[in-house]
Amino acid sequence: MDSILVKGGGPLKGQIPIAGAKNACLTLMPATLLSEEPLTFTNAPRLSDIRTMTQLLQSLGAEVAALQDGKVIAMSSHGKINTRAEYDIVRKMRASNLVLGPLLAREGHAEVSLPGGCAIGARPMDIHTDGLSQMGAEIELRDGYLHAKAEGGRLRGTVIEFPFASVGATENITMAATLAKGTTVIKNAAREPEITDLVHCLRAMGAQIEGEGTSTLTIEGVDRLGGATHAVVADRIELGTYMLAPAICGGEVELLGGRISLLQAFCDKLEEAGVSVAETDKGILVKRNGGDINAVDVTTEPFPGFPTDLQAQMMALMCTAKGTSVLEEKIFENRFMHAPELIRMGADIDVQGGTATVTGVSQLKGAPVMATDLRASVSLILAGLAAEGETRVSRVYHLDRGYEHVVRKLSGVGAQIERISDE
Ligand code: EPZ
Repeated sequence: MDSILVKGGGPLKGQIPIAGAKNACLTLMPATLLSEEPLTFTNAPRLSDIRTMTQLLQSLGAEVAALQDGKVIAMSSHGKINTRAEYDIVRKMRASNLVLGPLLAREGHAEVSLPGGCAIGARPMDIHTDGLSQMGAEIELRDGYLHAKAEGGRLRGTVIEFPFASVGATENITMAATLAKGTTVIKNAAREPEITDLVHCLRAMGAQIEGEGTSTLTIEGVDRLGGATHAVVADRIELGTYMLAPAICGGEVELLGGRISLLQAFCDKLEEAGVSVAETDKGILVKRNGGDINAVDVTTEPFPGFPTDLQAQMMALMCTAKGTSVLEEKIFENRFMHAPELIRMGADIDVQGGTATVTGVSQLKGAPVMATDLRASVSLILAGLAAEGETRVSRVYHLDRGYEHVVRKLSGVGAQIERISDE
């Protein structure tokens, strides 16, 4: 296993390119199952989660080729499709459950392993399965697999109201509905930019979808979909993560490819904290030259609210703020595992259930810490940028799931950071 060494240092300066969004790519790739025509993605991120999704789709019979060092993914799934998504792949990545809707839509049946829980929560799939059942799927949980079968071989459109604006359920049902018989309306649909990106791609394939970015999606089923070439939208979570680097240790960094519209609520909180955020013709320029960071309160919500995937990173900044901030995690039941690690660095954090109260300290101290999940790993790196001395973050395989070239991107703006092997 590898670790990352970070030495706290002075202000950062320069530019960081933002990659394509992991969470867009992970829902776009299963769309290849909806068509027999070629589907190509450009601006794809080079991440281990993308390689896991590639492995899963290949196990189902899709052809998936990573071109140009993985920045282009060329796929096609013509001919016989295997409809069983095996546990040993699905358990590695929850997003594997996004093949359920496409398999049901294409083949009329599917056996998809339940992903099981992960570090941040139980991650049930009831909203996915209830929605598909309302579209005429008979779904039974047997030996850890969801066995699903569309009555009469084809799903039928209907009106579905989600109890919670689930991102994955919105993606699964939207993909399933593109080939259903009739019209599907999803009420209380999730509005994340990754879903808007999926809709743009499905529309390019010939799907009839209205309402992306709003809480109501209307999908008119068609008999078949064609191919498309689609550029993956910029990763708003990588973007927000790197915006916090100059915020936490000072300097001026331009995030290339970033747009404020992808994370307006986060940008508002950053400005409230005293950080300058301005859109340029190439991206977003973040400045913090001197001055204190103000403590701000944060509550995570579905888009367009403050993203849960930036909560851990924002907590790192609040550990260095003047005053006390309250962070409420409303999306996942166990997403404060970075807190004990930040406390090892001298942070003052009190966690009670889904609420973390952070009182800023004058100086974090470098320490050996452990990454527990993807977003916790980068929050520790951000803290290390501001800490006095050296921080060693172990178990960085978590990091590789969602961030490409972290060391190159941060050292490119002057951070003292390197990756070492623990062997
Ligand atoms: C997506 O997960 C993202 N993953 C997550 O990013 C992100 O944190 C999450 O959306 C929220 O924005 C991908 O896009 C691959 P949800 P997803 O369904 O679809 C509960 C990262 O760090 N729920 O909106 O699983 C669920 O337990 C990852 O990149 C049900 O109860 O999120 C959770 O508490 C982490 N029943 C909440 O809703 C269901 O059927 C949000 O889940 C589905 C979800």
